[in-house]
Amino acid sequence: MIHSLSDVQSKNIGKNTFVWQYSIILPGASIGENCNINCHTFIENDVKIGDFVTIKSGVYLWDGIEIEDFVFVGPNVTFTNDVRPRSNQYPDTFNKTLIKKNASIGAEAIILGGVTIGEFAMVGAGALVTKNVPSRALVIGTPAKIIGWLNDDGSKMEIKDNYFVDTSGTSWCVENEELKEI
Ligand SMILES: CC(C)(COP(=O)(O)OP(=O)(O)OC[C@H]1O[C@@H](n2cnc3c(N)ncnc32)[C@H](O)[C@@H]1OP(=O)(O)O)[C@@H](O)C(=O)NCCC(=O)NCCS
Repeated sequence: MIHSLSDVQSKNIGKNTFVWQYSIILPGASIGENCNINCHTFIENDVKIGDFVTIKSGVYLWDGIEIEDFVFVGPNVTFTNDVRPRSNQYPDTFNKTLIKKNASIGAEAIILGGVTIGEFAMVGAGALVTKNVPSRALVIGTPAKIIGWLNDDGSKMEIKDNYFVDTSGTSWCVENEELKEI
């Protein structure tokens, strides 16, 4: 459903994707199936969005951003794609930002250009993400720091005998800020 008050210039919008009022989608953008693109959003040309993605209101997706399947982007999340911006000077390439499958980004978080947010990771509301976020990490604060490791449903893994244990009972350890199944 493409709302009549949106300006969708791309032909690459998958089936069952909703685009709400006052959204602008430029012609080069690609959006998968079953997405929800809320009102007051802007999506530039070099942007790729997978399936089952939620983009809440007030989010602007600039050139160089890729968002994989089942990602949640909260209201007013700010993406950037130029680390040293100057008015009227355009870099040859913009920073590439990748948000991997099933990751979630809380309201008003700021994502600096060039980072990758790992699968099932979660960024707390208002965080400032300055570097890559490992898979399943929960990060908060400015700059964002890891405060836990997450199950599929977003709850924190329990700690037992110095290991993290997920809801299926699998144990994980952390090596070099990455979660590793043991
Ligand atoms: C980070 C988050 C997932 C909660 O994590 P949690 O581990 O369950 O955190 P808790 O609520 O137990 O709080 C733990 C501590 O972190 C703090 N905290 C919680 N969220 C925080 C955030 N986003 N930024 C900074 N500190 C935060 C709490 O104040 C608390 O501090 P204290 O120990 O000094 O009292 C959650 O607060 C959050 O930000 N979710 C995103 C919500 C959102 O934007 N949704 C969008 C849909 S509209």
